[in-house]
Amino acid sequence: MAEDINLLLKMLKENKGNYVSGQEICEMMGVSRTAVWKHVNVLREMGYVIQSSTKRGYMLVKEPDILTYDEVGPYLKTKYIGRNYIYRKSVDSTNTMAKSLPQDTPEGSLVIAEEQTAGRGRTGKSWESPRNKGIWMSLYLKPDILPQDAPLITHVAALAVVRAIKSVTGITPGIKWPNDVIIDGKKVCGILTELNAEMDCVNYVVVGIGINVNTEKFPDELKDVATSLLIEYRKIGTHKARNDTKGLIDRKHLLAEVLNHFEMLYEKFLSGEVADIIRECKKLSVTLGKSVRIITKGGGFDAIAVDIDDRGALIVEREDGSRQAVIAGEVSV
Ligand code: BTN
Repeated sequence: MAEDINLLLKMLKENKGNYVSGQEICEMMGVSRTAVWKHVNVLREMGYVIQSSTKRGYMLVKEPDILTYDEVGPYLKTKYIGRNYIYRKSVDSTNTMAKSLPQDTPEGSLVIAEEQTAGRGRTGKSWESPRNKGIWMSLYLKPDILPQDAPLITHVAALAVVRAIKSVTGITPGIKWPNDVIIDGKKVCGILTELNAEMDCVNYVVVGIGINVNTEKFPDELKDVATSLLIEYRKIGTHKARNDTKGLIDRKHLLAEVLNHFEMLYEKFLSGEVADIIRECKKLSVTLGKSVRIITKGGGFDAIAVDIDDRGALIVEREDGSRQAVIAGEVSV
């Protein structure tokens, strides 16, 4: 059934804007006219606009704004990132789901959902993930690296998101160390990297990425700190990334671009070419040169952020001139 629907969708997409005769579809798929009619209705329920005419057959008029593989695949240029594609309309958290995948799950598998009912942020916070408004995704990775090198993957992800946003919208965001993507001082994307490792080897890494894409309004407690691409886009009033008459940002294209850039950067990271990645992160950093408060479990201290080292740690300088590398921890600028 699912395969038949995929085949039908492929035919309709290849002929978008033109009628495909019912007879042709029946022959191609080896099913009856009634079966075709049923499949067409399944696609309509998914949001595809399909015109039908007794004489001429079926015509695909418009695809819905959904993140299925059928919709995102055409933009993908990757070899393995996002090629094993696990799509859900709704999940508790894509990170939680990715962490429960079997051990033989292929490297680069993607869990993507239209909505999360219990999206998780860092430090135990929750993550607002309204239906069809954003990109709520987790990548399942099995890098052959030492556990202490895993934090660099967060930088790889942040950079992939920045590059993707830039290519789709023309806006260049900044990175608040280590993993918040920022536009005009507000957070547009957060990254939650979760590691499962032994002392000297990594079993898997789940990189969870949440991008506020078409959110128009945030709850009161978030409205001063969070933003979306749509909100920022409307401020500058360009038209580059709109995907339809409603003027929304094209989530499919953006998701594919995140995956495309992620694979390129991840490959570099795996082959030890970290310097370029760090250099780009430093250029984009909104943290360097600023007074920061490093929040640790035992309390916190004030310092100036002066550098990011080749492990991705933030180098901070205290008032007495001493320098310290901060590997993890909350930073407030
Ligand atoms: C943060 O900035 O605190 C991190 C937010 C990470 C949110 C993403 S959304 C997809 C993935 N699934 C989750 O439950 N969390 C991450």
